[in-house]
Amino acid sequence: MSTENTIKVKKEEGTEAIYQFLSTIEELKKCDGQLTKWIDDHDILLYEFEGQFKAISNICRHFGGPVGYHKAKNGVFTCLWHNWQFSCKDGSNLTHCGLPLRNYDIKIVDEKIYINLLG
Ligand code: FES
Repeated sequence: MSTENTIKVKKEEGTEAIYQFLSTIEELKKCDGQLTKWIDDHDILLYEFEGQFKAISNICRHFGGPVGYHKAKNGVFTCLWHNWQFSCKDGSNLTHCGLPLRNYDIKIVDEKIYINLLG
């Protein structure tokens, strides 16, 4: 059963994934296509890049700085604290290989963006 703040999506193998409400598309557009939000204990960076909505961790793999504090430039997020850089394409780490940001699966239903925190 889905509630106002969650949706359930059947996966191919028959299990269900729960997605929680994160934002409306309108809210994201009002923030120039980039915003951060806490959902439970997840600090999430939601943004639009090359026409696609994406959600990655806002917590830097170095010392936990806010990756999305500044707006992305030329497809790159630069952490506020020590300037590690991450790709908007997939959260990969452009300055320290092997330390990408977590990617979250999202679904869009009726102009609302939902996120799977467990996926
Ligand atoms: S905490 Fe992000 S670069 Fe150091």
